[in-house]
Amino acid sequence: MKIRKLCPGENPPWELLELADPSRMIVEGYVKSSGVYVGEISGEIRAVYVLKETEKVVVEIMNIAVDEVHQGKGLGKQLISHAINEASKRGYAQIEIGTGNSSIHQLKLYQQCGFRIVSVDFDYFTRSYDEPIYENGLLCRDMIRLCYTFES
Ligand SMILES: CC(C)(COP(=O)(O)OP(=O)(O)OC[C@H]1O[C@@H](n2cnc3c(N)ncnc32)[C@H](O)[C@@H]1OP(=O)(O)O)[C@@H](O)C(=O)NCCC(=O)NCCS
Repeated sequence: MKIRKLCPGENPPWELLELADPSRMIVEGYVKSSGVYVGEISGEIRAVYVLKETEKVVVEIMNIAVDEVHQGKGLGKQLISHAINEASKRGYAQIEIGTGNSSIHQLKLYQQCGFRIVSVDFDYFTRSYDEPIYENGLLCRDMIRLCYTFES
C-alpha cells in the first residue's frame, strides 16, 4: 500500500472516514484543520488516517480506517507506523488517539503499536452521538485515550 498526503482541493474519502466515525458533522469539523493521508492499492484509495495538531508538540490521529475487504492484513499497522514517522519527522513529542470502550480490536492494535492508555473521558460517546453505538456486545460509552511518546 502506498501512503500519501491528500493535496488541497482533493476530496477526502468520506465513506472510509465514516467507517471510523459515524457522524459526518464531527468528521467534517476536524478534517478541515488536519492532514488527511490516504493509502492506495493499485491506484484506488483503500485506507485513510487523519492527523491533527492539538497542541504545539502534540498531534492526534483523529480517524483511521481500512476498507472492509482489506482489513486484517496489516494495513492498519502500516498506517499507524506511517503516522508515527510523520509526527517524528515534524518534531512532535507525542501522538494521541482515542477509541471507544467497546472497540476491543482497536485497543489491541494501538497498544501493539506502542500506545499506552492515559485517561478515560467518561460518557463521551453517550454525550456526543444521538444514536447509541453497540460493538462486541457492549454499549460504547467512554472514550479511552491513548498516547505514544517519542523517546528523547
Ligand atoms: C481499526 C482498523 C483501522 C485496523 O486496520 P486493519 O488493517 O484491519 O488492522 P491490522 O490488519 O493491521 O491488524 C492489526 C491488529 O489489530 C487487530 N484487529 C484490528 N481490527 C480488528 C478487527 N476488526 N477484528 C479482529 N482483529 C482486529 C488484529 O488482531 C491485528 O492483531 P495481530 O497482528 O496480532 O493479528 C480497521 O479494522 C478499520 O478500519 N476498522 C473500522 C474503522 C475503525 O474502527 N477505526 C478506528 C476507530 S477508533
